[in-house]
Amino acid sequence: MAIIAQKCPHIKVTVVDLNQKRIAEWNDADVNNIPIYEPGLSAIVAEARGRNLFFSTDIERAIDAADMIFISVNTPTKTYGVGKGMAADLKYIELCARQIAKISTSDKIVVEKSTLPVRTASAIKNILENTGNGVKFQILSNPEFLAEGTAVADLLNPDRVLIGGDTSMEGQEAIKKLVAIYSNWVLKDRILTTNIWSSELSKLTANAFLAQRVSSINAMSELCEKTGADVNEVAKAIGMDSRIGSKFLKASVGFGGSCFKKDILNLVYIAKSYGLNEVADYWEQVIVMNDHQKSRFAKTIVKTLYNTVSGKKIAFLGWAFKKDTNDTRESPAIYVADDLLDEQAIITVYDPKVTQTQIHSDVNYLNSRSELENKNGLTILDNPYDVCQDSHAIVILTEWSEFTSYDWQKIYDQMQKPAFVFDGRNVLDKKVMEKIGFVYQAIGS
Ligand code: UGA
Repeated sequence: MAIIAQKCPHIKVTVVDLNQKRIAEWNDADVNNIPIYEPGLSAIVAEARGRNLFFSTDIERAIDAADMIFISVNTPTKTYGVGKGMAADLKYIELCARQIAKISTSDKIVVEKSTLPVRTASAIKNILENTGNGVKFQILSNPEFLAEGTAVADLLNPDRVLIGGDTSMEGQEAIKKLVAIYSNWVLKDRILTTNIWSSELSKLTANAFLAQRVSSINAMSELCEKTGADVNEVAKAIGMDSRIGSKFLKASVGFGGSCFKKDILNLVYIAKSYGLNEVADYWEQVIVMNDHQKSRFAKTIVKTLYNTVSGKKIAFLGWAFKKDTNDTRESPAIYVADDLLDEQAIITVYDPKVTQTQIHSDVNYLNSRSELENKNGLTILDNPYDVCQDSHAIVILTEWSEFTSYDWQKIYDQMQKPAFVFDGRNVLDKKVMEKIGFVYQAIGS
């Protein structure tokens, strides 16, 4: 919404939310205090806020005034009832649709921005048409493909914008209106229009394919470790095949983030609900592989440290699920910490952007131990050198660029010997680390 406001000064954009604290943070006089860390975002908010970009808790007024409404609420995996642990929870979507229906007194275009199971649009349409005040609604699907950490660049220069709508004349008119908004900065041939079901399913498919690439290279990383092949070399060699391509082939401790796991589980659930068990099993394996990668990384650490980490100090560099974000949802760091805390390790953590409160709440959320045990076992410091001091091993969980510029000799001098580094992101140079004296182990080599 910030990018739309920046690129379309003639359009008034109002972002509304029930959460007063959140909205207050977005309205903070110091734009550097906005609640999401994303490179380039605060400058854009600074430019548009108060001009044609507004943040408010007055939901009813904003709905009534709008010609077009983007539903952008979360669709987490259901934690109860039928489809528990797999299906998308559409509670928030439905509440939005009911509220829009109740308040609207003029015709509106409702855009699904949240990632949704295929055919959700028909549920929204039903609610809008049966509970509304007789006004006309058109529903469009406009899934988002930005990745965190590169969101601003992805939005300014998207590979494509996807808009799905009804094939009726009114549906096509609605599509045109949304195309007109994006046309302010996106080339026409990058704006793809489809029917609404193709659009909904394309979003889930894109994430499933991306996650599958990571699981595929991670599966190879384990084989590389056994055979003497180097996964970076393998990735380079296959990536040069233009049919395969070089992106998204970085072996890692596993993918995290709020999207991949949730969307694949959602896809698996949809396939199962149509009785397509082979399809469901095929995609579920992407997640099985990812869980395996996280737990085998933790096992390697324990095994290498002479089969015990009890009472040993282990330093974590990075907690976010990827660099350039403060988002920790489904971060592999949480699961690796959990396994090592079970082994009674003493963990210290440094992440450039994630808060102490967030890290503690992440480990507490897993409910594996009492909060007190977690607090005693895991300390968060705001300096990487202090985190590494006296540790037996350093574990790299996020590929933050600053890690490569540390004084690794100094870090080595202050560690217990032999000093181990387990690089879960393949960010450091093996030769340099070994020359200093580290026992260096990266995923896939
Ligand atoms: C992902 C998709 O890339 C976006 O296109 C999509 O819009 C978004 O989900 C969404 O559905 O909202 P995101 O989860 O923000 O974006 O981040 P990614 O860059 O896809 O990374 C996901 C995870 O995979 C991270 O933990 C990352 O470290 C890991 N990864 C990625 C690898 O381990 N290796 C790679 O080669 C690439």
